[in-house]
Amino acid sequence: MMKDWNFDEIIDRRGTASMKWEPEVLSAIFGKGRENLLPLWVADMDFKCPTVVRTAMEKRLAHQIYGYSLIDPAYFPALISWYSRRHHWDIDKDWIITTPGIVPAIHYMTQCFTRPGDQIILQTPVYYPFARAVQNNGRRVLENPLQIVGDHYRMDFSDLEKKAKDPRVTMAILCSPHNPVGRVWTRQELETFATICIKNNILIISDEIHCDLILPGFRHTCLPSISDTFARNSITAVAASKTFNLAGLQQSSLIIPDTRLKQRLASYMEDLGFKNSIGGTLFGPIASAAAYNEAEAWLEDLILYLHKNFIYLKTCLETQLPGVKVYDLEGTYLAWVDFRETLPDISTLIRVLEEDAKVGLDHGEWFGKNGAGFERINIACPRSVLTRAAEAIVKSIKNYQDKIL
Ligand SMILES: Cc1ncc(COP(=O)(O)O)c(C=O)c1O
Repeated sequence: MMKDWNFDEIIDRRGTASMKWEPEVLSAIFGKGRENLLPLWVADMDFKCPTVVRTAMEKRLAHQIYGYSLIDPAYFPALISWYSRRHHWDIDKDWIITTPGIVPAIHYMTQCFTRPGDQIILQTPVYYPFARAVQNNGRRVLENPLQIVGDHYRMDFSDLEKKAKDPRVTMAILCSPHNPVGRVWTRQELETFATICIKNNILIISDEIHCDLILPGFRHTCLPSISDTFARNSITAVAASKTFNLAGLQQSSLIIPDTRLKQRLASYMEDLGFKNSIGGTLFGPIASAAAYNEAEAWLEDLILYLHKNFIYLKTCLETQLPGVKVYDLEGTYLAWVDFRETLPDISTLIRVLEEDAKVGLDHGEWFGKNGAGFERINIACPRSVLTRAAEAIVKSIKNYQDKIL
């Protein structure tokens, strides 16, 4: 296939109502006067999606009738074939419920499978909308904090064992691969995690939205593919949105091998107004199917590009800012950086990054208390942009250190 993409291309996203780039959003999140920060926060990419996606949508667009629509039938075999080829997981079409995004789906599942006051396990620091879904619905977050062992984040299984025994714990949300710490959980880690949850009757929600973004040398295992028991006691959330940069299309799916669980959620979603428990948009399934079927080469190239971006960032920050630690990125395009030794005061760190370096990053404490002093840097942008951001970070921190010495 002829390569028709160029990840180095700078594309102006301002004025496209991009959440990541709109000054109005930046000012609401980072504060007044910070609307022009260089945004490396929200998890979408500053790259064009594969051309096949645009072609497929244009074909449907040309029809000029966008009436009530079913999920494009091409979506299901495309998704099933993708998971079979890339992840060795055989999905049955009957297990799939489509949803308009994973975050809304986590809200529906919380409402459907737990009761007010129940406790839900989260492995902090973790993608912050998980905690919001729990709290918005009057449930309680029970943290099973990740541990740093040497240079690596690990799950704390003895803490999990203890907490899982509480009968008020009814659900655990797993982030696999993990946003923000960048771990691709090993099969062994997943087995131990799932065994503890299942032994204690805890339903596992496995959010695998980042599962296609695996850096060289690592391998993702879909939790339900490990055993029938894991499949029957878990619900896996998947989407082509991170993989191919389609988040604005709001398309995702839940894979629910257990018939009773699936029926329960399907009728719950029907009560919420989803027709035939189908959630999604007209274009989401069309775009996802095209990408799954025809954009594998684009993805392989993207992964190599992201890997080089990561190596650049790690080398730049660690060599020029002694004490800064960039955790090894195994999956996702979100680098997790520890600034605690270099700039221990968090408000100073944020001020230096935003007022001096003029970059907008996800602050670690948003992901949980144990994220304080860390920053999450989205590296899915042209290398020249990442270089500009990294150099600005280095320069502003050095300037600050020179001033206080
Ligand atoms: C772990 C995780 N889950 C879900 C989402 C968002 O999913 P959606 O856009 O389908 O709601 C993100 C986006 O960053 C994410 O990192």
